[in-house]
Amino acid sequence: MKGIVLAGGLGTRLHPLTKVTNKHLLPVYDKPMIYYPIQTLVDAGITDILIVTGGNDAGDFLTLLGNGKEFGLEHLNYTYQEGEGGIAEALGLAAYFAGGDPVCVILGDNIIESSIRGAVEDFAKQKRGAKILLKEVSDPERFGVAELDGDRVVRIVEKPKTPLSHYAVTGVYLYDANVFEIIKTLRPSDRGELEITDVNNAYIDRGELTWNELEGWWTDAGTFPSLYRANELVARKKMS
Ligand code: G1P
Repeated sequence: MKGIVLAGGLGTRLHPLTKVTNKHLLPVYDKPMIYYPIQTLVDAGITDILIVTGGNDAGDFLTLLGNGKEFGLEHLNYTYQEGEGGIAEALGLAAYFAGGDPVCVILGDNIIESSIRGAVEDFAKQKRGAKILLKEVSDPERFGVAELDGDRVVRIVEKPKTPLSHYAVTGVYLYDANVFEIIKTLRPSDRGELEITDVNNAYIDRGELTWNELEGWWTDAGTFPSLYRANELVARKKMS
């Protein structure tokens, strides 16, 4: 399985911090944000990794990460997303890299306490379709939210005003190679982006979406409160 870290976008919700640098290069306690999702992939046994970057300071990823030696990697791959076309557009740029293999996609601003190895291994057995990781949260309206029927996800709604559950869709997605065909069929949402939620709903329509519950704490870091929370959670873990 190949790994893809999505680290593009303009990070406008963090202005002025992101006016001159990429969000994923900002510090989270003692490391740049992007270190955490890369480590999550490596800890899950995924070592063939592509970083999709974009926006400001894209070249700094190379200076910072090089060939990934700090993570025990021999090699890292990079590609560039122009503008802010959304998470699904960024993923579409990885088709050449995936080359028909299944992929584990992680958003560059998602910080996860525990290992995702179990979910990655479950997906490897699944053979086709997709798997998402859900987490119960107190503020689901900030995320993609899964509507459940028993233990089946029947629909995902992006940032609903009245969420139908407390299960947020975290930024870890496992897809078979069909994801790149699905992305080609998407239309931009009201915010002008290709939405990862539309990709996941397409898999639901095909009856091919499974989910696992993410263990341990999880946070994104794309807003001031969540960036602050990410720092606090990582600091507390390091100091415990
Ligand atoms: C994105 C996705 C959302 C998901 C979240 C996880 O939101 O669109 O479905 O729950 O990542 O971090 P964004 O960070 O773009 O607002």
